[in-house]
Amino acid sequence: MKGSNMRKAMIPGSFDPVTRGHVDVIERSAALFDEVDVVIMENTNKKSLFTKEERKDMIEQEVAHLKNVKVLIGEGLTVNMAKKLDASAMIRGIRATSDYEYEVSIATANMMLEKDIETLFLLSKPQFSFVSSSTVKEIAKFHGKLDSFVSENVRKKLEEKFQ
Ligand code: PNS
Repeated sequence: MKGSNMRKAMIPGSFDPVTRGHVDVIERSAALFDEVDVVIMENTNKKSLFTKEERKDMIEQEVAHLKNVKVLIGEGLTVNMAKKLDASAMIRGIRATSDYEYEVSIATANMMLEKDIETLFLLSKPQFSFVSSSTVKEIAKFHGKLDSFVSENVRKKLEEKFQ
């Protein structure tokens, strides 16, 4: 499919690092859209552990089996990135109700900035509803078991950071 008939979605996030929950949202999005761009964006409220390049490499390994998914490093506002990439939707995963308030505030701001770009929410699978990059970093810092939260590759990268 080519040009305007092609449906592209963007998945923005900080992915520091990518978790099994993120991968699930990416896989489900890839089944719904012709093309999916996973875009590493800056969250000004968070201090990052991994560089954007390290995060990109990790996500690329996770999504190697998905032929319609690309991983990019973005900059500025997500709505501007979405326009630049010609994506009609931005997808965010929602876990518990605690995510809802924050997500509504960014989605509403984005809607006011760019009315043509929709934000879509995918509900996390129950097994991932308490998985977050912050939790994963805390577990890694204290050398806890990471297998249910991240892939083997990401686990190794976390262990290297905290050794
Ligand atoms: O994975 P995260 O940290 O929850 O992702 C948040 C992110 C990066 C999507 C958000 O902070 C973001 O969109 N940053 C770019 C700046 C922007 O467009 N902010 C929204 C308008 S207020």
